[in-house]
Amino acid sequence: MSAIDLADVQKVFRDRDGRDLVAVDRTRATIEAGEFVCLLGPSGCGKSTLLNMIAGFEAPSTGEVRVAGRRVERPGADRGVVFQQPTLMPWLTVIDNVAFHLKLKGMGKAERHERAKTYIDLVGLTGFERHYPAELSGGMSQRVGIARALLMNPAVILMDEPFAALDAQTKIEMQEELVAIWQRVGATVVFVTHSVDEALVLASRIAVMSRRPGRIREFIPFDLPRPRDVTSPDFNDMKRRVLGMIREESTRKAAA
Ligand SMILES: Nc1ncnc2c1ncn2[C@@H]1O[C@H](COP(=O)(O)OP(=O)(O)O)[C@@H](O)[C@H]1O
Ligand SMILES: [Mg+2]
Repeated sequence: MSAIDLADVQKVFRDRDGRDLVAVDRTRATIEAGEFVCLLGPSGCGKSTLLNMIAGFEAPSTGEVRVAGRRVERPGADRGVVFQQPTLMPWLTVIDNVAFHLKLKGMGKAERHERAKTYIDLVGLTGFERHYPAELSGGMSQRVGIARALLMNPAVILMDEPFAALDAQTKIEMQEELVAIWQRVGATVVFVTHSVDEALVLASRIAVMSRRPGRIREFIPFDLPRPRDVTSPDFNDMKRRVLGMIREESTRKAAA
């Protein structure tokens, strides 16, 4: 059974003037367990909409999304989500932010904190358990968001440009650590990005999306060994190929 099935998924929004806007055009795709798939495409092409349908935040207009064979109808603990802004609760400490879902489930404090501690250690925040969000850097806040998403041990982790707001150096560190975490927990990751470099550093398969109406134009398997050397000829060959594909896409649109 596949981790994620997109069965002819389409999403149509109605804009302010009452016109229909196709955000995601009929899309079929299968993602296998343990893959790291990057959804790569320009701003506005429907990446977040597609991810939100997998997360269960948005319902498809037609078609269906299946996770582990079951139709997605709402968000669930089998899918952890990390957003561009970590949306932490400012009045809670790091450990209580991470453990928040367990509190909702009625788990006692000691047990909750013990569970949360495992993931705080995993994302490299050991020692910051009692800090408040206002005391954290952007990278650290994102680590809290990742720990919170991992806490329920989800089979699928959905990430929407989580490192877009970070400085270049922090971004590189976070990308490396995310790969290490993915290798350790063995989850299926779907990661949205508009950065070709980021997709090439992270993905085991890149889904190149076309401009609106968004659909997955091509899947590119990418099995370069890790950690990846961004200066290697293999890396640059692949980068040339992906950039060529994107350029071709914009030329085609401009001509249409
Ligand atoms: N809730 C919404 N209502 C109306 N239009 C939307 C809504 N969400 C997204 N859109 C539109 O759908 C298109 C795709 O958006 P989005 O999925 O956010 O793109 P991306 O994440 O690739 O930048 C955009 O044109 C956007 O304006
Ligand atoms: Mg988006």
